[in-house]
Amino acid sequence: MSDLLRQLLMLPDPASEAAREIDVLHFVVLGTTLVGFLAVACVTAWWLWRYRRRGDRPTERVTGSRRLELSIGGALLTLFVGWWVVGFLQYLDLQDAPEGAEEIYVTGKQWMWKFAWPSGRAVVGVLPVPVDRDVRLVLTSRDVVHSFFVPALRMKQDALPGRFTRLDFRADRLGTYPVYCAEYCGQSHARMGATVVVLSAEDYADWVAGRTPATLVPLLKGREVPDVAAEGGLAAEGRRVMQRVGCLACHSLDGSPSVGPTLLGLYGSEVELQGGERVVADSDYLTRALRDPNGQIVAGYDPVMPSFEEQLSAEERVAIFEALRALGDEEAP
Ligand code: CUA
Repeated sequence: MSDLLRQLLMLPDPASEAAREIDVLHFVVLGTTLVGFLAVACVTAWWLWRYRRRGDRPTERVTGSRRLELSIGGALLTLFVGWWVVGFLQYLDLQDAPEGAEEIYVTGKQWMWKFAWPSGRAVVGVLPVPVDRDVRLVLTSRDVVHSFFVPALRMKQDALPGRFTRLDFRADRLGTYPVYCAEYCGQSHARMGATVVVLSAEDYADWVAGRTPATLVPLLKGREVPDVAAEGGLAAEGRRVMQRVGCLACHSLDGSPSVGPTLLGLYGSEVELQGGERVVADSDYLTRALRDPNGQIVAGYDPVMPSFEEQLSAEERVAIFEALRALGDEEAP
């Protein structure tokens, strides 16, 4: 039944449980509105006939019923709000990967998608992911607004310059699925595509370890990016970036006090700000901290940090986050 409906609506076969649930809501909404449309059309036709002009006989006077109107209106409202609630829960589901999900960084730029792994692997246009495992994509853009759209997974998320957005999913079918850019971003927007490749657990482990499984060989031809982060993975690259732009002049990596708070154990921890507010130091917080450091001062420190908005590329920021994440696993003394 679902398959027939998908064919009728020209929807690609879903590759995750979440996608199947989204389809069910889609079918229920379409089915209900179709039934509603037919009911309204039939009633209209009947009334046309019933209240047609008959010689000189005046049409009988019709009076409305407030109760009937309110109950029909209320029922429709309940129905629509119900759909919204279900849809909203499905939307939240796409940002709700459990701890330990496989994290992959996605950078959009005119006009390609680049994917990077904490191990330092990076590739343009091909996104290998493991089957039956939670994956979290952390998206950003190097230039304008793009939108990462995978029809087979029924998910779409904007990639914004200077910000990080998330997309969580769990693919359960091996295969290759097209990715499109769904936000007009210039001349070659229509060609800004990529391919999601859902790999078996073994093949994916191979991929992360730096080998290339046979299924990927034809897809990867000429696409692997020379590894900027080959030496020690993304985290090591992040440390080099921090050294170069001067973060380490004011922040220590070993927990010792300095001009600014130490970076050891920062990532993912709760930070107390001036004024007593507490925030979690995740990629959102760190993005804000790099752009406008004095917007949220950590309790006990002075507002002396300059903005690093202009000095860091999207890739460098990703590398810094990865370095901080690696440090976050260690406890501050
Ligand atoms: Cu990128 Cu359209």
